[in-house]
Parts: sequence; C-alpha cells; structure tokens
Amino acid sequence: MYTQSFNVPDQANDTPTAGAAASLKAVPAPLSISEAALQADFDARIDADGRIEPQDWMPEAYRKTLVRQISQHAHSEIVGMLPEGNWISRAPSLKRKAILIAKVQDEGGHGLYLYSAAETLGTSRDQMFDALHTGRAKYSSIFNYPTLTWADVGVIGWLVDGAAIMNQIPLCRCSYGPYARAMVRVCKEESFHQRQGYEALLVMMSGTDEQRAMVQDAVNRWWWKCLAMFGPPDADSPNSAQGMRWGIKRISNDALRQKFVDATVPQAKVLGVTLPDPDLKWNETRQQHDYGAIDWDEFWATVNGNGPCNKERLGTRVKAWNEGQWVRDAALAHARKQQARRMLEAA
Ligand code: 3HC
Repeated sequence: MYTQSFNVPDQANDTPTAGAAASLKAVPAPLSISEAALQADFDARIDADGRIEPQDWMPEAYRKTLVRQISQHAHSEIVGMLPEGNWISRAPSLKRKAILIAKVQDEGGHGLYLYSAAETLGTSRDQMFDALHTGRAKYSSIFNYPTLTWADVGVIGWLVDGAAIMNQIPLCRCSYGPYARAMVRVCKEESFHQRQGYEALLVMMSGTDEQRAMVQDAVNRWWWKCLAMFGPPDADSPNSAQGMRWGIKRISNDALRQKFVDATVPQAKVLGVTLPDPDLKWNETRQQHDYGAIDWDEFWATVNGNGPCNKERLGTRVKAWNEGQWVRDAALAHARKQQARRMLEAA
C-alpha cells in the first residue's frame, strides 16, 4: 500500500533531466548587486536542500512556478470532490456513505490548505478562483471523466488516490516550506482514501459475478487515465527540469509513473482484476514493469478543456461559486459588525 515509506531519497535515475537541470540558473535576467547576493543565498539554500519560507527573498520565476503548481493542485482537490460527491446519495450502505462523505470532505480541506499555501506567495484566493472559473487555470485531467457505477468510487480510491499519493509524497520534501508542510497532512489523509477504495473493491470482488464485472469494467476505464495523470513524458515536460533544480519536484513524471505501475501490479493480482494492457510485463533486466503506449492526444485534449466532463465540472464549480455569494456577503457583513462593535467598546 502507499505510505510515507515511499518518501525515499532521490535516485540518480529518478532525474533523467538532471544534466539539463544542473546547468539551469534560477533567473536569467541581469541582477543588481544586492539582488545577485540574494540570488546567491537562495541558490545556496536550494543546493543545501534547505527550505524557503514566505518571508524569504525568492526569484520571481520560483514564486510564479509555485503559484502555478500549488493553485492547480488546489483546484484539482476541489474539482476532485465532484465525481465522487455524485455518489454520496447513492452509496450502497450507511457505512459506505459515511466513508465517502468523510473522503469528499477531506478533499475540500486539502483544497483549503493548498489555497492558503499559495496565498503566502502573494496571490489571492479571488485571483485563483477567477482563473479556475474562467477556464484559464488547469486542474488534473483525471477529474474530467464520468463515474458510471459504484465500482468507480472504489477504483478512484485505489488508483486515482494511489497515483495522487505517489506523486504527492515527494512533495512533502518540496523546497517551499508551506507547501511541504501542507502535503504531510494531505498525504496521511490520501492514504486512508486509497485504503478505503481498495477495501471496497475487495468486498465487491468477493461478491457476485455482476459485481466482479463491474469492478473490472471500472478498472478498464480508469487505468490509462491514471497513468496519464503523472503528466507528460519527461522529454515533453517543459516545467520539470527547472522544478527539479529548485527542489519543488523531487522525482520526475516518468519515474513516478513507473513506481505507480510497479506498486499496482501486485495489488491487482490480490484483488483478482486484470490491468487492461497487453504489453504490461515484468522486465527482468530493468527490474521494473514494461507497459504499453499512453494516448497523449487524448490527455492533451482533456487538459485543454475537451474531455468528456470538462464543461460539466467547470459549470458546477461556477454555479456553486455564484450561489454561495450570499454566504460570503453575510460572513463579511457579520465580521464588519463585530469589528464595529469591538471598536465602540474600546472607545
Ligand atoms: N492534468 C492536467 N494538467 C497537467 C497534468 C494533468 N494530469 N499533468 C501535467 N499537466 C500540465 C502541467 O500543469 C503543465 O501545464 P502549465 O505549464 O500550463 O501549467 C503542462 O501540463 C506540462 O506539464 P509539466 O510536466 O511540465 O508540469 P509540472 O512540472 O508542473 O508537472 C505535475 C505536472 C506532475 C502535475 C505537477 O504540477 C505536480 O506534481 N503537481 C502537484 C500535484 C497535483 O496537482 N496533483 C493533481 C492531482 S490532485 C488529486 O488527485 C486529488 C486527490 O484527492 C485524488
């Protein structure tokens, strides 16, 4: 299963772009003498694997990269509430309903920690929501697919949360302090999400033929999307080299994808499902699994707004935002009244 034990030291082969990364300089523009000294301090701290905190000087490009990644991550968490939230009213038992409500609520909490972490970089929540609602911000491709049966909820827990943990555990060692600290708690909760999904599937697999077929069908539909979730191949990932040079990303997209495949194959065996890839096989030389070709055209179409549920997901978020306006107005009016009362009392 996925635990903090995946937080292993980086290996040379986790960093296929290491050569390119080593030659990168944090800021290309000419710097003043004092900026050059600040830049040197920043580089030295990154090289020593130290943490950067909100009050520290940082290059503008580092700040921008973090705002981009953390806000996309936050959006993914809150959009990720939708495909599963869809099943709360149809959960097959009180126990499953309680677990699902807790899980969906956790995702909302993850979004809030992450928006808060991004705010420490000088962006505002309104700016981030505006980018999401107007379609300018990305969020994870995986949440643009429909959840057709109850088995999808189990498979999302097992595979989607499993892939998310694999990607997120190295982020607990991200060079930016607030992001790294938020990720520690997020990963603990994601671990519960992954386990509850796997356990729900184990129960279904010991049920009827129809239930087993439902699980296999869900695995067939989600497997390839989960592999794509790790992002484009390293050679086509424009942000990886710099992200790794700055200690934001610790393990490359392809290396994480490989770790996920290797961890998931034995779990599928225990569960009794087939992973839908005829090319999936153990490679004795590499001591890793080989796997088939991912459909990157489909991935990019989804990332660029043309997946099966993009419009529905964004529409739901915008509707929730608009319908929640009166709550935000009321909370602000209440806060203003309280402040006025405190000022009167103090006068
Ligand atoms: N979905 C949507 N966009 C994706 C993507 C995906 N699965 N994978 C990559 N992209 C985008 C990148 O954001 C980038 O776009 P941009 O330059 O316009 O911002 C572009 O594709 C190129 O990709 P890169 O590999 O160069 O980008 P990164 O270096 O940022 O790596 C990442 C992408 C691995 C997703 C990295 O940003 C990351 O680790 N982010 C934090 C984790 C995260 O956001 N996870 C999302 C899932 S959260 C979740 O699943 C919730 C859980 O509860 C289930």
